[in-house]
Amino acid sequence: MSEEHDEDFVMAFQDSCDRPTLLLIHGFPLSSQMWTPQLEDLGDYVRVIAPDLRGFGQSDSVPGPYTITQLADDCADLLNHLNVATPFVVCGLSMGGYIALEFYRRYPEQVAGLILASTRAGADSEEGKAGRDKTAELAKNEGATAVSANMLPKMMAPSTYEDDEELVEFVEEIMSAASLNGVVGALAAMRDRIDSTPTLGDIDAPVLIIHGADDQLIPPSEAELMYKAIPDSDLVIIPDAGHLPNLEQPDIFNDAVIDFLEELFEEEEED
Ligand code: MLT
Repeated sequence: MSEEHDEDFVMAFQDSCDRPTLLLIHGFPLSSQMWTPQLEDLGDYVRVIAPDLRGFGQSDSVPGPYTITQLADDCADLLNHLNVATPFVVCGLSMGGYIALEFYRRYPEQVAGLILASTRAGADSEEGKAGRDKTAELAKNEGATAVSANMLPKMMAPSTYEDDEELVEFVEEIMSAASLNGVVGALAAMRDRIDSTPTLGDIDAPVLIIHGADDQLIPPSEAELMYKAIPDSDLVIIPDAGHLPNLEQPDIFNDAVIDFLEELFEEEEED
């Protein structure tokens, strides 16, 4: 039974979607569309909410610069607006992982568990920050699609490019829809993000870390570092997957998530 607060009275209601919630935060320069196999397959277990971050997908293309904190708060505001019961599970891929870690820092009491996919804890190096500025210049001079065109050959595993033309086209379509404001704004957010390494040892919730064995953008060694530093964590390295394991190997990705959710919510029922 849920409750909706109005000015005059509290109305109780039943909701067929009264299941725990899984928030899916997309990577750069993508949108909630990247979670299509999860939206299709995880709905029997959880209520899945996948926002388009500001500047991406169907969300407004507001001018930047953005911050990781602002992006985490956008997600928190959405879940609050939807009256989602807490705690819920927060899953972020790559830039979405940076946001998930910030979400945990800001709202730890709302987080039942974290799923960190294809991401890293560390901040950008000075060289990395300069690279973000160069990429933003490229976007401003040649359009946001110049950035996605540069990134596309590195987004997935070499085997995916050989075997799954349809998926490559799907990812290209999502990436090329990103707005200039979104690309430039999110590049600034990633450039200026803080180092999450000190947070890792303090995470007081179960964490699932998922990484593609052939990730060309963030090496699996980053996932191993997080696994060693986070007290209650599991690590799943997915073979024949690059930076987008949820799309390249959706069955393996979804099975890992379902196992994690089942264990998590069994534990909660016992408590
Ligand atoms: C992403 O996939 O979200 C980005 O590649 C992350 C990054 O550039 O650090």
